[in-house]
This record gives sequence, C-alpha cells and structure tokens, in this order.
Amino acid sequence: MTTQKYMPFHLHNIDDSRKLMPIKSPYSNEEIGLLYPCSKDEVDESIKRAKAAQNIWKTETVRQRAELLFLWAKQINSSVEEMASILMQEVGKGIDDAVKEVKRTVDFINYTAEEVIHMTGESMRGENFPGGSRKKLAIIERVPLGVVLSIAPFNYPINLAAAKIAPALAAGNSCIFKPATQGSICGWYLVKTLIDAGMPEELVPLITGKGSEIGDYLVQHPLLNFVSFTGGTETGLSIAKKVGMVPIVMELGGKDPAIVFDDVDLELIAKTIVAGGFSYSGQRCTGIKRVIAHKSIIHELTKLLTKEVELLSIGSPEDNCSIVPLIDTKAADYIVELIDDALQKGAVALTGNKREGNIVYPTLLTNVNLNMRVAWEEPFGPVLPIFEFETEEEAVNLANASDYGLQVSIFSSSYDRAFKMSDRLETGTVQINGRPERGPDHFPFIGTKHSGIGVQGIRKSIESMSREKVTILNFE
Ligand code: G3P
Repeated sequence: MTTQKYMPFHLHNIDDSRKLMPIKSPYSNEEIGLLYPCSKDEVDESIKRAKAAQNIWKTETVRQRAELLFLWAKQINSSVEEMASILMQEVGKGIDDAVKEVKRTVDFINYTAEEVIHMTGESMRGENFPGGSRKKLAIIERVPLGVVLSIAPFNYPINLAAAKIAPALAAGNSCIFKPATQGSICGWYLVKTLIDAGMPEELVPLITGKGSEIGDYLVQHPLLNFVSFTGGTETGLSIAKKVGMVPIVMELGGKDPAIVFDDVDLELIAKTIVAGGFSYSGQRCTGIKRVIAHKSIIHELTKLLTKEVELLSIGSPEDNCSIVPLIDTKAADYIVELIDDALQKGAVALTGNKREGNIVYPTLLTNVNLNMRVAWEEPFGPVLPIFEFETEEEAVNLANASDYGLQVSIFSSSYDRAFKMSDRLETGTVQINGRPERGPDHFPFIGTKHSGIGVQGIRKSIESMSREKVTILNFE
C-alpha cells in the first residue's frame, strides 16, 4: 500500500522532486503519512498571499466571519471518528481522549464564533476628564492585527491548533499555521475541514516542514503581526528573542505541584493526582509534575498513590491505555535519564522504573531532594517526585522554587487556608481542590515565569489577536 501524501492546500506549484518527510506512528511504528517540507520561498509566498487575503477577510462582517466558523465546527463534527483515529495514530493518544479532543474542538470553535458576535466596542465622551467637553466623542472598536502565525504542539494537535486558528480568524486576521511535525497530519485534516467549510485556502496556509530549517525564517518574517506559540520552553525562549516588535502569546512548559494538606480525603486525592500526573503518559503541560505532601500524611498518601499508579493500564492507545509509548525515543530517553539521576542521588522508586521500547512505566519517586534534576526539570512523561512539607511556609517556598509558573493545586478542606496560600503562589492559576487543567476553554489560561507570556482562553485570545482603534469625533 502506498503511503498517503499530505500536501499543503494553498501551494499550487508543488516541487515534485522534493523529498517528503515520513511520519511514523509512535506506537505502531508504521509510516502513516508523508509531509511536504515547505521551502523558505514557499513560506514567503504563503505569507504574502495570506496578507492579501486578509485585506478582503477583514472587510467581512463579524457575523459573516462567525457563520464560517460555525460551518467549520459542523464539518469537524461530521468527521469526529476519522479525525480522532488519525490523532490517535499520529500522536498515540488513547482513542477515547482523542474523540474528546475533537469534540472539545467543535465546542471551542462554536463558542469562539458566539463570543466574537457578542464583542462590541465602546464609546466615551471627553466630559469625564477635568476640563473635558461633551464635544469630543471617542469610538473605540477592535480591529484585526493582520497576519497571525500559530505554532501548535504535538500533544493536542487538533484542539490547541484550533484554539489559535479560530480566534485569529474570528478577529479578522489570516492565520499561518505551523503544526508540530508529529501532529502535521492532524493539522492537515483540520485545515481541510476549514477549507471544506468555505474558507479561502490562502487565508490559512498550512506550513509543514522542519522547524530547524524554516522556523527562524518563519518567526522573523516582516509581514507577521502576531505570534502564538504553544510548545517547549526552550523553543519558546528562542522564538521570543527572534520575533522583535511583534506581539506574542506563549504557553510553554510547567512543573505544576499538587500541595496536599492533612485535612482531605486521601483516597480521592490520590486518584485525582494520578489522573492529573499520568494521563496521556504525562505529556500535558498542565500535568501534575510534583507532589508536595504534608509530613503527617505523606506515608499514607504515598501508599495510596502507589496503589493507584499500579492500576494504570499500560500499552496501546487503541486499547485506551493511560500509559502509552512516548512521542519519540528522545522523550523516553529523557525520562529514563531523570529517573536514573534521581536514583543515583538517593531517591527511591516506589513503582515503575522500567522501560519497554518507548513505553516508560509510571514511576513514583520518594526521598527526593533539590539536588536532583527531577525536582526542577519538566519531564513531559510518566515520572512523579513526592516532596514533604511541615509548615505552610515550606510548601509555598517549594511550590515557588521553580522556573515555571503555570498552575498549582492546593488540596485542603479549609478554603480559608487555601485562599490565603493562593495569594503567595507565583503561578498563572491556582486550583483549589482540583487538578491543574486548561479548560473549560473560556477560562483565562496563563503561564507566568518560564511557563509563558500573555493570556489565552477564548475571549482573551480574540482580544490578544486584535487591537483597539479609536476614532474621535470633534463636534462644533
Ligand atoms: O499541554 C497542553 C495543555 O494545554 C493541557 O491542556 O486541557 O490537558 O489541561 P489540558
């Protein structure tokens, strides 16, 4: 059987001699598709055409733009099974979660269309300011930025891509879309549904290819007006240095701790922590990546966590296993490195610490200390270190002792205590009695420190991808 080729829709002069990039499934290792590696010239041509297309798109009414998004959501909704299956094959996500991701995307796009319809401008008179006059009326409207570049990660290749494309288009921009290489087939399907819904193909150019070859050229292109990036912190920092005077929103890594006090139902919390730390093998930026447990319950919690971790299913995403092969060998090597480093420095693996191919068994580590890499680095895989605290001060210091600042969970039956502690945490979001997570998708989603810059979330994303423009009427 010949492998399917996934070519960009908007390029009409495809170079047939170019070597295509094979994409292999992380769990079956079968080649599932071939990607066209765009050249710098094609990136340039795509951006220029996207700019021209945006000049027309911005003149459509908000209602017309929203209607097209509703049609897009409908198209995706009619292909849920097909897209979920591709998602599972390409990034190895359990089939149930893959279906959830595609359905969540439908909801996301519909909500975005509804939101933009209800976003109106404001006006103000000069009279409110000392010495001002009623004879000045400012009309404040939102206008698009122009060309938005969206770079999406592998772990939510449909949802996190649409979470950038939908608000960009809703706000009246064109959107250059660069999916993660592993995730590009999902990206191709996503763009296909958008074009099938009636979107002009040059408005959403799909740029596939190696970041190492076209990445710098892409992010430094002079016609870009906004960059939205979700991915690793290292890449994010490098992009931030290159984009210049272009507004940017980034959602990067995390090292989210779960702080557990002694006044909670430990069985319930253990289940929540294991789901938060190990679903999709820990390949989520909002995964729980540290447990900080009160001294008086750490022993009991550790026992319960071990029991729960040992119940996790390990194997194929086709069987909905929680622990699946990691996205690539490099990712699995890295987790093993972190575990080995911790064990050499005195940590104890309560369970796990075993590897089969790119499956790393879910590993819980105790006796951890701050000299270990696992205390600081983001694994993006199934390893979870457990720290101990005695005073609230210690818990806050441990939680804040990280370059990352995405989310923190506090588990306590005292809202008073949790709320007071929340004030002192250096993080985008504090979850009280819940695991870290991005959704519901209309909530603001914020990374501080090395976890990101700017705010996402449906309304916030539309706002960041547009700007205010003021027209002032001066009356006689
Ligand atoms: O890792 C990406 C991040 O957005 C996670 O999303 O929905 O699993 O919290 P979620």
